[in-house]
Amino acid sequence: MQALILALPKAELHLHLEGSLEPELMFELAQRNNISLAYASVAELRRAYQFNNLQEFLDIYYQGAAVLQTEEDFYDLTWAYLLRCQEEGVVHVEPCFDPQTHTDRGVKFATVIGGISRALRDGQQKLGISSALIMSFLRHLSERSALQTLEQAQPYKELIMAVGLDSSELDHPPEKFQRVFAKAIEQGFLTVAHAGEEGPAEYIWQALQLLHVSRIDHGVRAVEDEKLMQLLISEKMPLTVCPLSNTKLQVFAHMSEHNILQMLDRGVKVMVNSDDPAYFGGYLLANYQALIEHLPMTETQLKQLAKNSIEASFMPDLEKQRHLLKISQL
Ligand code: ADE
Ligand code: ZN
Repeated sequence: MQALILALPKAELHLHLEGSLEPELMFELAQRNNISLAYASVAELRRAYQFNNLQEFLDIYYQGAAVLQTEEDFYDLTWAYLLRCQEEGVVHVEPCFDPQTHTDRGVKFATVIGGISRALRDGQQKLGISSALIMSFLRHLSERSALQTLEQAQPYKELIMAVGLDSSELDHPPEKFQRVFAKAIEQGFLTVAHAGEEGPAEYIWQALQLLHVSRIDHGVRAVEDEKLMQLLISEKMPLTVCPLSNTKLQVFAHMSEHNILQMLDRGVKVMVNSDDPAYFGGYLLANYQALIEHLPMTETQLKQLAKNSIEASFMPDLEKQRHLLKISQL
């Protein structure tokens, strides 16, 4: 099973670059940029990574992101993630970034996207990892701030495949960003949104009907609404599920209670992702391993998860076929 997980060509479709900032790199960047951290050591920082809910995590995650200042910092962050992908047999990535987390601190949009996109280009050229970038709006901020961010992205449209929606879900329904997403679609962006992580199934309906998303990020609370489940299945709507994130943030009390295989067996297009690997205990392989350890996963299910990750990606059909053929031969 372990060898198969590694060998399967996999795509990662739900990964926050700021959430791949390992404590070691955080300390290195803090020193490089003369920033003092609220923690004395890597070990002390890691000990703080205990979360009762999404908000407790986000508070620490935004604090950590403050060490990212220069184009080189964003390059190093992205490059470190791509090296992990190479080790783990991840052949394609669609990471997201939160521009507002940085522009609100005075870092230029150009600095952020410059470093990220240069690393992604090197990832393709030097590691053979293809990618598409997603720009996420922070839903706890205003519609106006999201519109300004969309405006700032105009000169870099060629570098961004889709817009997304993340941060504190409760009390910030997708409908708050209906007009922003309509404008993004008009400009040629695809759309995705976090929904049904902590928030109700109703937010998944809204993401589908009002934001016209191509994928739902998380979506695990869809099982509470049978009509929604029927729609997700008939529309082959992908859900980018993140097992370690869900247990770390107490969406599920234990991995043995996770509903990913239940959804997979019902025909929902779910796949495995790591969300914020530096904070939740591991990258893509660790997520697969946690599932195997606590759920009765078969080889067929494992292959289907990898297959779904390729099919649900935004890569060209020819590329998809190439990876799917390899999966079918394993
Ligand atoms: N930002 C980073 N990780 C997130 C998550 N799991 N949910 C919402 N916003 C996030
Ligand atoms: Zn996420």
